[in-house]
Amino acid sequence: MKATLRYLAGIAGPSGFGSNSTAEQVTDQHSSSNSHLTALITGGTSGIGAETARVLAKRGVRIVIGARDMKKGREVRNNIQKESPKAQVLVLEIDLSSFASVQRFCSEFLALNLPLNILINNAGIFSQNLEFSEEKIETTFATNYLGHFLLTEMLLEKMIETSEKTGIEGRIINVSSVIHSWVKRDSFRFHNLLNGTNYNGTRAYSQSKLANILHAKELARQLKARNARVTVNAVHPGIVKTGIIRAHKGLITDSLFFIASKLLKSTSQGASTTCYVALSPQTEGMSGKYFADCNESNCSSLANDEFEAQKLWNNTRALLQKRLRQAAI
Ligand SMILES: NC(=O)c1ccc[n+]([C@@H]2O[C@H](COP(=O)([O-])OP(=O)(O)OC[C@H]3O[C@@H](n4cnc5c(N)ncnc54)[C@H](OP(=O)(O)O)[C@@H]3O)[C@@H](O)[C@H]2O)c1
Repeated sequence: MKATLRYLAGIAGPSGFGSNSTAEQVTDQHSSSNSHLTALITGGTSGIGAETARVLAKRGVRIVIGARDMKKGREVRNNIQKESPKAQVLVLEIDLSSFASVQRFCSEFLALNLPLNILINNAGIFSQNLEFSEEKIETTFATNYLGHFLLTEMLLEKMIETSEKTGIEGRIINVSSVIHSWVKRDSFRFHNLLNGTNYNGTRAYSQSKLANILHAKELARQLKARNARVTVNAVHPGIVKTGIIRAHKGLITDSLFFIASKLLKSTSQGASTTCYVALSPQTEGMSGKYFADCNESNCSSLANDEFEAQKLWNNTRALLQKRLRQAAI
């Protein structure tokens, strides 16, 4: 109840920001010192990702947008550069549902020899229909989780190398959702996630968002054990009427959104938690955490379960090794 009132009233938390803070507000004081930073953002062609890219670019960060639709990517780049003429924005093609595409994207990015300070795993889908990726994996899980896991694996050494060379902490941000807390422990089975067994769009989406948090937790543990100066956190952006929701058309959905419109965030409010975790000095050294409304927050007990995080990690590594080996033959 207290949390709902705080959300509705937009009362600031310990960070000094709250549910109604915008991405511009949370990064306002960090505009002069970012010209040496490079951030890679997936799903930067629409919604929360496009706003995150715009605001980080405005703060002087060089942006690399991973886009599945290059035309949309170029449009976003042009709009950013209209507003911030000095902004450096690159657009590279990636389809996160395809391992081959993620591999191609990483080769292309690494060949540019750029540093990498910030990786924002933001792209996402929420589909009511059961579909399968090129590798015959349920598409929501493939896009929201597996593609980002592979991307992070392939860019991790670059991030560690950048942090060592520059002395600047690297930051990885997994964009998750509060809906992760809807997942029941006994329904979270790796094999079923891959096969889309008993598919339900909301369940598949929430499971993929739980996997985003478990990924951040386990990777944070491993990076700490390596003494690497790269942090990894998960965020819930808030509920925003973006493309991900617009796909769910119909009178009932529209009516629910109309009634709930007071609870919705603007896109810039939706991008604020990601931008806060990406740039704020307050989040320095924080890793393996979950943030909402620009403050550290609590995730579900399942999302906090270290054993579950390690199990998911091991299953994912084994799957990727097998599939990538098969693809290489
Ligand atoms: N909106 C919300 O209320 C809400 C709430 C909680 C969490 N989130 C999370 O916030 C993140 C951003 O979502 P959004 O609300 O901004 O949705 P959005 O407007 O639909 O944006 C999703 C982005 O992901 C990209 N994308 C989708 N599938 C892809 C693929 N296979 N390969 C590469 N890119 C792909 C889309 O590209 P195209 O432009 O080509 O479609 C788009 O740029 C997601 O991770 C979502 O789960 C959103």
